[in-house]
This record gives sequence, structure tokens and C-alpha cells, in this order.
Amino acid sequence: MIVLGLETSCDETACAVLDGTTVLADEVHSQTAVHAPWGGVVPELASRDHLARVLPVVDRALNRAGRGLAQIDGIAVTAGPGLIGALLVGVQVAKSLALAVGRPIVGVNHLEGHLLAIELSKERVPDFPFLGLLVSGGHTSLYIVELKDGRVRTRALAHTRDDAAGEAFDKVGKLLGLSYPAGPQIDKIATGGDRAAFTFPRAMAKEDDFSFSGLKTSVLTQVKKHGLPEGQALDDLCASFQEAIADSLVTKALRQAERAGLSRLVLCGGVAANSRLRALAAERGAKAGLDVFLPERKLCTDNAAMIAAAGRRPLELGDRAPWNLAADAAWRI
Ligand code: KG4
Ligand code: ZN
Repeated sequence: MIVLGLETSCDETACAVLDGTTVLADEVHSQTAVHAPWGGVVPELASRDHLARVLPVVDRALNRAGRGLAQIDGIAVTAGPGLIGALLVGVQVAKSLALAVGRPIVGVNHLEGHLLAIELSKERVPDFPFLGLLVSGGHTSLYIVELKDGRVRTRALAHTRDDAAGEAFDKVGKLLGLSYPAGPQIDKIATGGDRAAFTFPRAMAKEDDFSFSGLKTSVLTQVKKHGLPEGQALDDLCASFQEAIADSLVTKALRQAERAGLSRLVLCGGVAANSRLRALAAERGAKAGLDVFLPERKLCTDNAAMIAAAGRRPLELGDRAPWNLAADAAWRI
């Protein structure tokens, strides 16, 4: 089945075409330049930019895939969670395309898309069930992901109590004078730093949930006391902060995997692109006898290939969203 995926839930306008789990096209237009001056995503600007970019991005994806709209068997669109104005653009465009060519459409949960991105990996693909660690700008959660009667079922085991991991990267980056999004920059700066230079807290060591606000405050206190770090001090602070995040994420993921009796761990979401988190998950997972799966970095951050991947099974099973399919900004799984 040829599935066209569309993603506009936040600050990426993305369209992909899949043939089964083979990616024929995966186009992403990032709005980073639009939001960078404001230090974070401005919802109104996101909606307007999606509106301007979405059809050219769809056109590019179809060209890259070498397919016309008439050769698409079904359409999968992110229907939530996300920014409501941004979601509405993608949902309405997807419905219009589906109506124009008489093809079925399904609404996909963005988080389920992240969890299933690993199915498109060119390296190894896990069997079900697996434990999914979803770490992005808006979410930090652990899910059991299983397949029942051909359908993917997800059950949440833990969430963040305050900031998401990506949010913590971005807020601490802002504090250090880095531009938005700061996660990839901290990752780079940390390469030359000493992970043990600063002792930052690993919050709620005994609890199941995640929490990063204490860590953020600890960095703030450090900066207030000693001023903005530069040179090696900045490298050390970034490395120590990143270590605290990676350590608490991996510690809790391993604990939940053991408790749930799961032998596979899948990382996903933008923060899963972080090099220290990937290394630590692989190293400590191997020691604990866990099979750890790391999607290629392009599959970690927002994209439409993962949305098509999540829509593929429901479309094959004959699911059809009605023409009044709406966006749900707070859709939980
Ligand atoms: O999944 P994503 O693209 O969008 C959301 O659904 O949120 O994740 C974006 C988040 C941002 O907070 C960004 O700073 C973070 O992922 N991120 C990273 C890295 N690459 C992206 N954080 C740490 N290290 C990275 N290499
Ligand atoms: Zn995302």
C-alpha cells in the first residue's frame, strides 16, 4: 500500500510517501528561522507558515517519490496532539486531497508516530512488544507498545511531572545565551566537556515519573552565582547538564523495562537524536541484557514518514476517518 503522510503539529511542515515500510520520499520544511528570534515556537506564526508551505512540500514529496496523487492508496495525517492552528492546516489539506482523489484518510496520533518511527529504520527493526522512551520538546514518557490483532496498542507507564526533556534542553540553552532550539547545540558543545565537572541533581530517583524542573533551577543557580560560563567552563556545564538528563532517562527506562518484563527498548522523539543519551542507553542497556533500538537521527525529530508508518496498519485494515475528522490538540494515548 502506498501511503502519503502529512505532519503539521508544531514547527515542521512535512510530507512523506511510503510503500509499505520503504520510504519513497521524506520532505521536511523546518520553521526554525521563523521562531528563532522569539526564543520558542509562536503558534500563530507556525499556522501561517504551514499554510504557505504545505502544498509545495506535498508537491516535492510526490515528485521525489515519482508518484502522482492518483497513485496514492491512502492518506495519514497528524490529528493531535499539538498546536491547534497548526494541526488544522494539515488535517484540512489532507481531507481535501483525499476528497479530490477519492482515497481513504486516517487521523494519526503524533506520539504514536514517534513510537513507530523505528519501523522505518534501515538498520534493525524491533519485534513487538517493546518499551518506548519518547523524549521530545513537548513530551517525556515511557510506553509499552504492543501489537494485538494487527493493531498497535500503547499503554503509558510514566510521564514527566513538569518539563519535557527537550524543553529542559531549550530552556537551559536560552539561559546560556544559545538560540532556539538549543538541544542540538548543547549536544555539540558538550562533546568537549567534562561530564563530571558539575554535580547536577537526578530528580526523584525513587519515583517512576520524570522531572526536570529541579535540574533547570540548579543550572540557573549556578549561572547566577558564577555568571555565564565561557570556553571550557561552558563545555563542562553543557556536558554535566546533558549527563544528568541522559542518566535519569536511562535509569528510569531500564527500571521500567525490568518491571514490565520487556526485553526491547526503543528511543524516539527529537531528544533521541542526542549523542550522549544514545551512547548511555546502548551501553547500560547492553549491560542489563536489553536490546536497544536507536532510530536514525532524521527519524527522531518531527517528520511525516513516521505518521505514514503509524497510519499504514489502520488503512490496510480498512479504517476510514469521516469527512468531519477534526484536530485534537490534547489527544492522549
Ligand atoms: O520530536 P521533536 O522534533 O518535536 C516535538 O515533537 O517536540 O523534538 C524537538 C526537541 C527540541 O526540544 C530540541 O531541542 C530537541 O528535540 N533536540 C535535541 C537534539 N536534537 C533535537 N535535544 C538534545 N540533543 C539533540 N541532539
Ligand atoms: Zn514530535
